[in-house]
Amino acid sequence: MALGLPNTGAASLANAGVNSFYTARVAPIFEVRCVTCHGASKHKASLRLDNYRAVMRGGKNGPVVRAGNVQGSDLVRRITLPPGHDDFMPKEGNRPLSPEQVRLSSCG
Ligand code: HEC
Repeated sequence: MALGLPNTGAASLANAGVNSFYTARVAPIFEVRCVTCHGASKHKASLRLDNYRAVMRGGKNGPVVRAGNVQGSDLVRRITLPPGHDDFMPKEGNRPLSPEQVRLSSCG
């Protein structure tokens, strides 16, 4: 093929789009704000947020992001709770995400 792209179907191309949005816009936020507790060394609730596949795999309670309904996902619920709430993320008095970071994390 002209651009050297593998001959992928429409579904996997759509996936690649989400994945690169994640890599470009969401991963840097999670890297700074979440990966200290959800990364390679610590993975609280068996959840890692340091790569797209891990985010989509979810944690000990199952998926935290629902494909096609990111707004209704546990991850978005937690970052949009009032900061004092038990389930709020990032946990332990860490600074809440900015509205722009919440907006980007809720895309896709
Ligand atoms: C200071 C450590 C810490 C930070 C930082 C942190 N988390 Fe967590 N997270 C935890 C702990 C501990 C749990 C398990 C307890 C609970 O469910 O509240 C958890 C659980 C979760 C769960 C539920 C997983 C499951 O399967 O039950 C999600 C979703 C989550 N975190 C998302 C995030 C996101 C998104 C960020 C960054 C914005 C973040 N966390 C930052 C400590 C942290």
